[in-house]
Amino acid sequence: MHTKGYGWQRQRGAGRVLRALGALALCAALAACGGGSDSPSSQGSSTALSATATLGKKIFNDVSLSASGKQSCSSCHDPASGHAQPNSLAAQLGGPDLNLQGNRIAPTIRYLASNTGFFFAADGTPTGGFFWDGRAQTLLQQAEQPFLNPVEMANATKADAVARLAKASYAAEFQQLYGGDIFNNVDNAFERMALTLQQYQLEDPVFHEYSSKYDAFLQGKTALTDQEMRGLALYNSPTKGNCAACHLSARGSGGSMPVFTDFTYDNLGVPRNLELRQNADPDYYDLGLCAREGGDLAARSDLCGAFKVPSLRNVALRHAFFHNGKFKTLKDALTFYVQRDTNPEKWYPQNADGSYDKYNDLPARYRRTSTRKRCPTTANRASPPR
Ligand code: HEC
Ligand code: HEC
Repeated sequence: MHTKGYGWQRQRGAGRVLRALGALALCAALAACGGGSDSPSSQGSSTALSATATLGKKIFNDVSLSASGKQSCSSCHDPASGHAQPNSLAAQLGGPDLNLQGNRIAPTIRYLASNTGFFFAADGTPTGGFFWDGRAQTLLQQAEQPFLNPVEMANATKADAVARLAKASYAAEFQQLYGGDIFNNVDNAFERMALTLQQYQLEDPVFHEYSSKYDAFLQGKTALTDQEMRGLALYNSPTKGNCAACHLSARGSGGSMPVFTDFTYDNLGVPRNLELRQNADPDYYDLGLCAREGGDLAARSDLCGAFKVPSLRNVALRHAFFHNGKFKTLKDALTFYVQRDTNPEKWYPQNADGSYDKYNDLPARYRRTSTRKRCPTTANRASPPR
């Protein structure tokens, strides 16, 4: 396969510097920015929620709203794992009998309050949207999908979901809020249910805490260790890690705390993960942005392989990394960044001719989609250079 002409290849020297300095220092920096399991309020909060958000919280945790009777939002977005999935599976199991595998890992759902609907920025950069491919425009639209997804909560119809809601222990509270006859109008009831979930995620501080050591550091209240400072320098340096180019680490102009993503999209060439049943078919590829539902970006083959940049807050609490869950430790995920181009033999399978099948989770015709040089080690960027 041809690999000539990739933007990132010209930057290999920088990759070597990063490798020499090591992924471990980066891990230390990320642990500092991670919020961490020791954060006192990460398990819940005493802040009073509105009636809508209170109801949203109950719905978020209610397994009776699924066809299996065993799965809720929190089954896949576990508070103890930073509201990412609670295990290291490549995708969670769902459906009526909890035996159908999903397509991607369940990402963290924290720090999404400042995300927007999907749009192309003035310079053409795909930005915003919910899900790994940005296909939902709001948290409300997003929250409708798991109820009906056949490999998740698997209600056959909106009416089924609403019938389950009408039997919930808090059904009367729902009626109090939206009217005694709300369950008679399936579409309205279904949308209100999603609305409560949106409100819960926007209101409850557990979804946007700024209580990590790194936050205290940014506020001048604590110091980082020497190792953490080395990791942070690597993380921020445009000629080394350059991580901050996509996973923002500085306070915003108005003083807002960084959420460690700019909500843009990139193609990192993450290796194929055969734990995903869909990948047993050698002709199947999860193409991300260009192949998302609705087909609105089908003509944009330059966006194939691009997925949304996840927030790195609480990343140390996660059990699997990248959209296909290929890596199970933070160290492996970071070492991949450092060595993807310098040591492809460590990350990709070997071809019959002895070469390595680089970027093997993309069809050959899309392996040259790089238009981007922002990240020295991984500049397979699905947006114009800036
Ligand atoms: C069976 C596991 C599962 C269940 C149950 C589930 N989710 Fe998810 N969630 C996922 C997966 C997988 C994704 C990513 C899917 C994709 O990008 O295609 C996701 C994505 C999301 C996102 C988008 C995050 C982002 O960065 O854009 C939000 C928000 C979310 N889920 C909230 C919910 C809510 C609310 C519920 C309950 C109604 C729920 N989820 C139920 C697995 C699950
Ligand atoms: C050009 C933009 C860009 C740069 C620069 C970048 N990343 Fe990422 N990062 C992404 C994207 C996009 C993903 C998700 C890719 C996927 O799943 O296919 C990601 C995912 C990750 C993940 C996995 C998180 C999760 O929940 O799955 C980690 C950890 C990470 N990046 C750390 C880093 C570090 C450390 C650096 C610097 C060495 C870095 N990133 C530089 C765009 C970037």
